Amino acid sequence: PPSPDQATMRVPLPPELTARQCPFDPPQALARMHGRAPVNQVKLGNDEVIWLVTGMSEARAVLSDPRFSADRFSRPNALISVPEEMREKLFDARARAGQFITMDAPEHTRLRKMVIGQFTLRRMRALIPHITEIVDAHLDAMADAGTSADLVSAFALPVPSLVICELLGVPYEARADFQRRTAALLRMDTPLEETLRVREEMRGFMHELVAAKRAQPDDGLISGLIHGDHAGELTDDELVGVANLLLVAGHETTANMIGLGVFALLEHPDQLELLRRDPELTASAVEELLRYLSIVHLGPTRIATEDVRVGDELIPAGGTVMISTPEINRDSAHWDDPAALDLTRMRNPHLAFGHGIHQCLGQQLARAEMTVALPALVRRFPHLRLTCRPEEVPLRDNMFVYGVHSLPVAWDAPEDA
Ligand code: HEM
Repeated sequence: PPSPDQATMRVPLPPELTARQCPFDPPQALARMHGRAPVNQVKLGNDEVIWLVTGMSEARAVLSDPRFSADRFSRPNALISVPEEMREKLFDARARAGQFITMDAPEHTRLRKMVIGQFTLRRMRALIPHITEIVDAHLDAMADAGTSADLVSAFALPVPSLVICELLGVPYEARADFQRRTAALLRMDTPLEETLRVREEMRGFMHELVAAKRAQPDDGLISGLIHGDHAGELTDDELVGVANLLLVAGHETTANMIGLGVFALLEHPDQLELLRRDPELTASAVEELLRYLSIVHLGPTRIATEDVRVGDELIPAGGTVMISTPEINRDSAHWDDPAALDLTRMRNPHLAFGHGIHQCLGQQLARAEMTVALPALVRRFPHLRLTCRPEEVPLRDNMFVYGVHSLPVAWDAPEDA
């Protein structure tokens, strides 16, 4: 998912590869491309060439092959065509410290292990019941405020923001700032100067927080990294990088799954009704929405460290590979009727959380949040409906994480109120 240095990536993909004909389906140009081959060369707007993978087995091969690096800063590649005078700032080692999503082994392994060690049973057991309270409190607030709302700002964004704040030990009062900064970082067209400035703001904020947790530990994950089993092993820059990675990755992704997920359900009322009536269906519904929507739409990217054959293509050393998760998750070789949203789908080995050593570290948390949030919402507001035409819903095709910018909805007031 997004990381604070994600936005330093410039990917001028041809517009037909990101423009959607339907809010839920991958751009049709991707299917045409996949019809030709599972790996294709694509020329970017800056004349660089990348390889786009639309086949499941080819994607798994790339993501589990150590000859592909996640460190797009270590060597020149198509994703970093920045003016010379900005390079120094962009590659600044202190600013990149701790962001293991763009690191390779053994650095990646070291940091990832430390963070996983903080997702303790005790911490998760305390958090999960709390998710229900957080969800219910937001549903209550929506009901109290009337019979209509923007679902993104009233529910989809605040719920995962609050959850990740509690997990990390970040004061929720800081949300307006970190949500705004994240939004700026994730817009593909944010000027690089602004991206770098926002990245510095995020670092400054987190440095202060790390200093506060050093002085006064709490139960959160940041304090755990500072004072726990690995006390003294991480520099402040690393702590800041890890914490900001989790903060950004932890709220935007899940928020968009909830926002776009509800939009998809509203447009498939039979499926919404299934979810509302049958709680047993929740787990498969969550997996199916993850597959169907594939919000990390400019999937994981990797750089070849030597010449590697993938499908029929030879990726040269230094070549950039992008995994097209939305198209892969609609591969008819892997799913019956892949274009259908089918919440009863049983076997669903999708790629929405990636694959290999970087596979999403927060996936259980994301699943837990969706598992609580989606059924609770559709049960609380049985007649939830859009208040604009579906084609008026603003889509996030200009963002690194796909979804909806807002979702205007209404519901009926309870009859006995
Ligand atoms: C990695 C998707 C929620 C933290 C990833 C990757 C994907 C992904 C595709 C792999 C990136 C790559 O290989 O380059 C998602 C989706 C989410 C979600 C779709 C929500 C539905 C979360 C949450 C957290 C989180 C809630 C934080 C608690 C991370 C981290 C990594 C990661 C730290 C990097 C792992 C590594 O490099 O080893 N995610 N994510 N994600 N995700 Fe998530």
